[in-house]
Amino acid sequence: VTETEEVRRGLAEGLTLPAEWYCSTSQYEAEQRHIFSRSWHYAGHCEALVEPGSFLTCWIGPIPLIVLRDPEGKLRAFINICRHRGSLLLHEASGRAKSLQCGYHAWTYNLDGSLRAAPGSKDEITFDSDELGLRPAAVETWGPFVFVNPNADSPPLAATLGNLPTMVAETGVQLDDLKVRQETSYEIRANWKIVVENYLECYHCPVAHPQFSAMLDVREIDVQTHEFYSTQTLEPRSTPQPAPYETAGEVENGFYAFLWPNFTINIYPGPGNVSLNIIRPLDAQRTRMDYFFCFVDSVGNEEAEEFMRFVDQVQKEDTALCESVQLGLASGMFDRGHLMLERERAIQHFQQLVWQAASHQPPAARHAPLPPNH
Ligand code: FES
Ligand SMILES: [Fe+2]
Repeated sequence: VTETEEVRRGLAEGLTLPAEWYCSTSQYEAEQRHIFSRSWHYAGHCEALVEPGSFLTCWIGPIPLIVLRDPEGKLRAFINICRHRGSLLLHEASGRAKSLQCGYHAWTYNLDGSLRAAPGSKDEITFDSDELGLRPAAVETWGPFVFVNPNADSPPLAATLGNLPTMVAETGVQLDDLKVRQETSYEIRANWKIVVENYLECYHCPVAHPQFSAMLDVREIDVQTHEFYSTQTLEPRSTPQPAPYETAGEVENGFYAFLWPNFTINIYPGPGNVSLNIIRPLDAQRTRMDYFFCFVDSVGNEEAEEFMRFVDQVQKEDTALCESVQLGLASGMFDRGHLMLERERAIQHFQQLVWQAASHQPPAARHAPLPPNH
């Protein structure tokens, strides 16, 4: 039995990935190559890319990307690297541009990525500007969310999303009515997979999240796993408890979805709200969690503040748990954990996806054909 086959068998039985996978730099780099460089990632909100020429830049691990709205209104994405000698092209986080000019030797690109001008190119006999356009990446949207994939030839975003957009619509939130109100980041001294796995179970909720557990019925959680996402739905407690924020509104249940590989969308009971958490690996044992809090306009600033204070408290509780697990896994005294599959099935699902990607296996099975549009 090869080592990787042994890992797979353990996962099927409810063992976790070996501790080494959470600590080693070579594993981290393999995951960047085999997972992050070829999957769909949240890049920003459509509201930042309304005007022709508006752009934003982002990083998927070590890969710099540009997303822009071209003069014809089409979204485009490129690898943010100049074709001359490899300098980063745009350094700003966002802005407006008529063309993209490199700050090193002034090669200039059109918004469709083609090379418009390179100083001195007329003196070069073999210079072929048609060959020197920016390298494209894939870009698509789901509601107001812009997603990019560094691999321009990847399957469409819909193949990853599956039925998730329908499930989100059924919670009662109207994604298109939401605007980003605030962004926050947390740095966590733990491997990104520990952070994802902590998200994927609420077995720890009664122990670690008293406010959250007073509000939602954490014992009756509905966990579902699908091809590239999993969901957790929790109903409010039937016996009213003082809520940590104003929970009256169009959303009744708590709905928490994880989308492969590092995106989560969180919908709490109350008025129209969504918080996105993007789990960004920084190195083998450090992760940054980026929060994007979105609300409908009718949610007042004070209400939003109260809600965000509550979420901040929950995140601080989670950060401590994740950092504690990292110390255990890095100790050399622990190899594979034991999942409680009734409650931690979504972790098994995630780890099987990690295993497949890291060992270059095709996804296990294609499920039902996708609906024609989302
Ligand atoms: S590296 Fe961009 S113009 Fe030289
Ligand atoms: Fe938690």
